[in-house]
Amino acid sequence: MPYPCLNCSLISPLRPVVRGVNGARKFLGFLLLACAVFLIASAGAQTRAAASLQDPSASVIHGGISDPSIVPKVEALLRKMTLEEKVGQLVQYSAGQPTGPGTGRTDYKDMIGKGQIGALFNITKARDSNAFQRIAVEQSRLHVPLLFGLDVIHGFRTEFPIPLGLASTWNPALVEKAARVAAREASATGIRWTFSPMVDIARDARWGRMAEGAGEDPFLGSAMAAAYVRGYQGAHLDSPDSIAACAKHYVGYGAAEGGRDYNTTEISEPTLRQIYLPPFHSAVNAGTATIMSGFNALNGIPASANAFTLKQILRKEWGFQGIVDSDWTSVAELIPHGIANDGATAARKAFTAGVDMDMVSSLYHDHLAQLVKTGQVSETELDEAVRRVLRVKFALGLFEHPYVDETKEDAAMLRPEYRQLAGDAAEQSFVLLKNSARPGGAPLLPVSKNIGKVAVIGPLANDSDSMLGSWAGLGRSEDVTSLHAGLVSHLGKENVLHAKGAGISEGSDPEMADAIATSRQADLVILTLGENAGEMTGEAASRSKLGLPGRQQELLEKIVATGKPVVLVLFSGRPLTLPWAFENVPAVLAAWFPGVQAGPTLVRTLFGESNPSGKLVVSWPRSVGQEPLYYNALSTGRPANQQNGDPKFVSRYLDEQNSPQFPFGYGLSYTSFRYGPTEIGSKQLKASNLNAGLRGGNNAALTVTASVTNTGQRAGEEVVQLYIRLQGTSVAQPVRALKGFERVSLAAGETKNIRFTLSPDAFAIWNDHNQFAVEPARVTVWVSPDSAQGSPAELEVVP
Ligand code: NOJ
Repeated sequence: MPYPCLNCSLISPLRPVVRGVNGARKFLGFLLLACAVFLIASAGAQTRAAASLQDPSASVIHGGISDPSIVPKVEALLRKMTLEEKVGQLVQYSAGQPTGPGTGRTDYKDMIGKGQIGALFNITKARDSNAFQRIAVEQSRLHVPLLFGLDVIHGFRTEFPIPLGLASTWNPALVEKAARVAAREASATGIRWTFSPMVDIARDARWGRMAEGAGEDPFLGSAMAAAYVRGYQGAHLDSPDSIAACAKHYVGYGAAEGGRDYNTTEISEPTLRQIYLPPFHSAVNAGTATIMSGFNALNGIPASANAFTLKQILRKEWGFQGIVDSDWTSVAELIPHGIANDGATAARKAFTAGVDMDMVSSLYHDHLAQLVKTGQVSETELDEAVRRVLRVKFALGLFEHPYVDETKEDAAMLRPEYRQLAGDAAEQSFVLLKNSARPGGAPLLPVSKNIGKVAVIGPLANDSDSMLGSWAGLGRSEDVTSLHAGLVSHLGKENVLHAKGAGISEGSDPEMADAIATSRQADLVILTLGENAGEMTGEAASRSKLGLPGRQQELLEKIVATGKPVVLVLFSGRPLTLPWAFENVPAVLAAWFPGVQAGPTLVRTLFGESNPSGKLVVSWPRSVGQEPLYYNALSTGRPANQQNGDPKFVSRYLDEQNSPQFPFGYGLSYTSFRYGPTEIGSKQLKASNLNAGLRGGNNAALTVTASVTNTGQRAGEEVVQLYIRLQGTSVAQPVRALKGFERVSLAAGETKNIRFTLSPDAFAIWNDHNQFAVEPARVTVWVSPDSAQGSPAELEVVP
C-alpha cells in the first residue's frame, strides 16, 4: 500500500518531536485527545461506509446497480458461464473512430459471437450498434448484450460549453440538465455509457485536460460531479434514455508533474483524501455506475494497478459496487511504467488491484483465463468482477431492451429546447475579466445598440469547429452559429466588418495589415483570440507556454495601437497568461469554447441583453512560472503577506507576484454588488458535537449569513461564495477552502440576505492519523464574491 493507513498507530511519523517534562505531559494529553478523535472518527467512518452499503435507499442512489431484484438474475447467468465467457465480459474494444493509440483488435464480430467481448465503444450510429448487438444477442451462446460507450463529455450532437465553461456557471442544476440532454441524444444511437464526468482536480493550466473538468476546487468539483451523474443516469438507469456515467480518471491524474499529460503524480495521503478524492466520492454517492482508472503513476504505483485507491478506498471505504474500467490501454501501460515485464503480469496486477474491465489493451482477453487456471487470480475475484459488469447491464435494462429504435435517432438530436439550454449554459459560463471605464466614464461593455460599425477580427471569429470544444461528439460545425454570423444577424451585414488578421498558430503580414485597415474603419473592434480547441486543449495537449499562440499577441498589440476601442473575447480551454492584454485592453471576456450557440449568446452578452455572471473555477496565472497555482494552498511557514515580516526571507518569486492575475471565484458583472459583513450563528462550536454530527447526528453546525445588494442600474446574478480557514489543526489546512456557494438573482437596488448552513463535515479534516474528524481550531469564515475578498468572521472549535 503506498499510503500506510495509520489506523493502528497513534504516532504519525510527521508529528513534531516534543521534548522535556512539559512537552511529555502535553504529548500525553495530545495522545489521549488524538485517541479520542481517532475512535470517534473511525466509528464515523465505519458508520458512513456501512450506510452506503446497507441503506435501503442505496439501491436507488446506486442507479439501480444494487437493486436486490438484479441479484438472482446475475447469479443465474453467472452459473451458466464458462471461464472464457466470464473473461469476455471484462474485455472492451474501440470499434469506431479511435480516441487513443491502436485499437487492440479488429475481429470484433467473430469475438462477439464467441462471447469474448463485453463492451464496445466509439460507435455512433444506431444502425451500427444494433448490428453488433444482434451478433451478441442472437449468436453468442448466452445472449449477453453488449454495452456501448462513448466519450459524451459536454453534449452529444447538441454541444454545450466545455466542462470548464459549464463549471464556470457555478450552476449544478443547469449542468444536470445539460447532461440529461446529452443522455437523451446519445442513447438514441444505442450508447448507454458515457466516459464522463471527468472529475480530476486541475491545479496547473499547462495540463490540457483542465478544459475537461470543473477546475481546482474539490467542493465545487463534487457538486458538479454529482450533477453530471444525476443528469446522465436520470431517475431510473433502466429508462431507455438514461446512460451510465463514468467518473474518471481515478485518481490524481490532474496532478501530472509539470502539467505534462500522462506524467507521474506524487500526492500525500491528506491531499489525496481532501483534494483529489472528494469529487469521486461525490460521484459514487450520486450513484455513478462506473469509474475509470487513470494513466498516472500515483506515488510510484500506477492508478490502474493501485489496490489502495481501488480496493481499500473505492470498494471498502465507499462501498462502490459498479464497474472499474481501465483507461485506454492503461493495463498494457503497466509495462512501460515499469511494474510489469510482460502482458500476463500487467493483466494480473491490474486485475488483482481492482480493475474490472480492460479497455483496448487486450491483455485480459489474452491472459486472464490462464491466470485463473494457474491460480494466480482467484475465480472468486473473477466472478465478482463479472457480477459487477452484469449488474450494470441488468440495471440498464439491456437484457430486456438490447436494441435501439433506428427510426427515432434523427428526431432525437439538436431539438430547439436543447439549443436553448446550450445557450443558457453558454451565457452563464462567460467570465467578464475586465471592463474598465473609458475617458467618458462609462465602461466599454455592454456595447451600445447605436455603436455604428463593428469590426470582428481574429482567427476565432468564424472558427465553428473550435466552438465545439475538444470532445465534439457528433457536434457539427454547421450546427454552430459563429460570433461573426451572430453579429451580422444582430447588426446587419453592412455594419459588420471582418478580417482574420492571423491564424491561431501562424499568420502573414498581408493578413495582419488587412486587419489593421479593417479596424480603422470601425467604431469598435471585437478581437477574438485564443487556442484551437481540437489541437491545443484536452488530452495530449499540454503547453509549456501559456500566452497566445502564433502571431496573435502581435495582432493584439497592433489592433490596440489603432486607438479604436477594443473588446477582447478569449476562446480557450485554460486561463492564458496575458499581462499585456489585461493592462492595455479595456474589456476582456473569457468565453472558453461555448458550444453550438456561441455566436448568439456572445452577441447577447456583449450588447447587454444578458449580464455576465460566470466565475472562474481556476486561478488565472500572471505567468507560467507560477504554476501549479491554486487558491486553496497552504500558508507555508514564511508567507509573503506577513505583516511587519522580513521582506526577503519569505516564500515568493524575485520576478513575479505570488497572487494570480484573477483569483478563483472571480468574475465581473455589468452591475455591481455590495456584500455586508459575514455574520455567524455561534462564536464557539464543540469538536465533540461536530464529530457526533459526522456520525449522523445533528447536521446543522453553523449558520452563516451576509447581505448582498445590487448597487448598480440593472438586474444581475451573483455567485455568492462561502470560504473557511482552520488554524491550529494537526495537519495544515488551506488559507481558504470553499464550503458553500449560491447563485442569486438581484434586481437593481435589491438586497437579499444569503444564508448558508454548514454541516459538521465543513469543519472536518483528514488529520495526522488519516482519519476524517473535527479538531479544535480557530476558524475564519468569509462570505465573498471570490476567494480573495470578503469580511472575515471568527469562531473557535473547542474540544
Ligand atoms: C483516453 C482518455 O484518457 C479517456 O478520458 C477517454 O475516456 C478514453 N481515452 C476513451 O476514449
